Amino acid sequence: MSSGGRSHTAPPPSGRRPVNLPRLAEMKANGDPIVMVTAYDYPSATVAEAAAVDIVLVGDSAANVVLGYPGTEQVSMDEMVVLGKAVRRGLKTPLMVGDMPMGSYESSNELAIQSAQRLVKETGCQVVKLEAGGIAVERARAIVRSGIPVMGHVGLTPQTATALGGYKAQGKTAKDAIKLCEDALALQSVGCFAIVFEAVPAAITEAIVAKLEIPSIGIGAGPTTSGQVLVFHDLLGITTGHMAKFVKRYADVHETMVEAVTRYGNEVRRRQFPEPGHVYSVEPAELDEFRRYLSEESLASAKGWEWEPLP
Ligand code: KIV
Repeated sequence: MSSGGRSHTAPPPSGRRPVNLPRLAEMKANGDPIVMVTAYDYPSATVAEAAAVDIVLVGDSAANVVLGYPGTEQVSMDEMVVLGKAVRRGLKTPLMVGDMPMGSYESSNELAIQSAQRLVKETGCQVVKLEAGGIAVERARAIVRSGIPVMGHVGLTPQTATALGGYKAQGKTAKDAIKLCEDALALQSVGCFAIVFEAVPAAITEAIVAKLEIPSIGIGAGPTTSGQVLVFHDLLGITTGHMAKFVKRYADVHETMVEAVTRYGNEVRRRQFPEPGHVYSVEPAELDEFRRYLSEESLASAKGWEWEPLP
């Protein structure tokens, strides 16, 4: 009942045309920066919609950011589907990307296609994203051939962070940069429509994206990618604690929320809330009648309703 009466349909159309793959290619060609952000629920999706971002990623970063897992490895496909459905209800114009969680695509092309189809059919995302090069390139090829567009992801790939030596920048040696470049070119060659570069030295990213025809989206990869992505809760300052070097905070929403909930608690304890404007009224005649009912005589006549112990 707390949110009763509120509309849970997507916000009204803004007049913006929905973002699709040709539009992203056009933006790259024109040098128009692509804005991407993560979202994991209906309210964050409506914010992304209202802020006119181009791409919304239902990222597996939901694992740490909203589900409280220690890493992205733990989030399941079932959980990603629930979150994706909520995001879909809040979006109209941005392209919606569904992130394929760890374990949903690595073992076979069949599994990869089934998982991608599940994300698209059940959440309404238009495209999917998977992580890393190597076997993921083969999976990306299979998914693209099945008719679902794929976004690649190279550099720091959190699902395989342990194998990469932890959450740290990638491509810092010439050997690692060559591998990263080969992965990106391979993802492009199998038909990925865009690639995320995460935690890669700016100069390495610049050199690689110069060789790409498809849009690149950076997170901790410098200014030369076709666009940028940040995690919703990081940029708003909802997440607390250690932040990656590449996060810029545009607000301190955690502090605002703590301050507001504390004020609410204080007002409840001092009986300052609710105020007259927050309560419902009743017609005096109805109240009088109800009070008469509660008078001693009326209660006495209701005695028959009283519970009597079994013999
Ligand atoms: O899951 C996620 O949020 C991501 C972005 C960091 C690109 O993969």
